[in-house]
Amino acid sequence: MVLPQVIRTDTENTTDGERLLEGKTVNLRIVEKEDIPLLNEWASSLEVGGEYEFSHQVSRSEMEKNFEKRLSEPSPVEWNTFMIEKKDKTKIGYVVHFNTLHPAGKIQEIGYVMIPKERRKGYCTEAVRMMLDYLFLSKDLSCIQAMVDVRNVASQKVLEKAGFQKEGIIRKRFFIRGVWTDNTVYSILREEWKEPKILTRTEKK
Ligand SMILES: CC(C)(COP(=O)(O)OP(=O)(O)OC[C@H]1O[C@@H](n2cnc3c(N)ncnc32)[C@H](O)[C@@H]1OP(=O)(O)O)[C@@H](O)C(=O)NCCC(=O)NCCS
Repeated sequence: MVLPQVIRTDTENTTDGERLLEGKTVNLRIVEKEDIPLLNEWASSLEVGGEYEFSHQVSRSEMEKNFEKRLSEPSPVEWNTFMIEKKDKTKIGYVVHFNTLHPAGKIQEIGYVMIPKERRKGYCTEAVRMMLDYLFLSKDLSCIQAMVDVRNVASQKVLEKAGFQKEGIIRKRFFIRGVWTDNTVYSILREEWKEPKILTRTEKK
């Protein structure tokens, strides 16, 4: 995937062109095939996924196959994963966005995971703010949503700090580690986001 060229930060230019969104303490980099071994390791780790994420044991070759398929075949689901990297390029987590399919709606949903030793440093909040800037600047959206296990205090704090509002609770929608869980739905409307906080819109070069 190639990011729209109008999306840039007001910090220095990058050597990676439009595949990198630059923040203050972290950058978001579109996932490449070379990232799959690490993503696969994280996907298989209960520690990285935390208590409230579903655990999907998936082989590296299956992940690679799905990655190739997504590049070559059109799909109604637009799904993209960005690595969250520190300024020294250490990979510390990822953030995803995907469209929810409804004939009358145009909604993007986001999700994220940070590796345990890099949590509680504000990185995820910055990554989510950047993702909101990116999605509202590059897509004609009225709303971005997120769904969080009602027990997941850390994730709810991230969303609230990034400007999301709590909408309500949906009951027993997801089967996570042997139990049906309730989730809180959060959303942020374009008018609540108002303007980019980290990325800026600049002219195409
Ligand atoms: C949820 C998660 C991504 C948060 O990442 P993070 O980098 O620690 O988040 P931040 O550092 O930006 O923290 C944001 C706020 O949450 C608070 N917070 C973080 N972890 C917390 C915890 N376990 N309990 C209570 N508050 C917590 C931080 O202190 C901060 O608030 P503050 O600025 O008022 O101090 C991380 O805990 C994680 O990867 N969890 C496992 C996967 C997951 O649950 N993903 C979300 C699925 S919806």
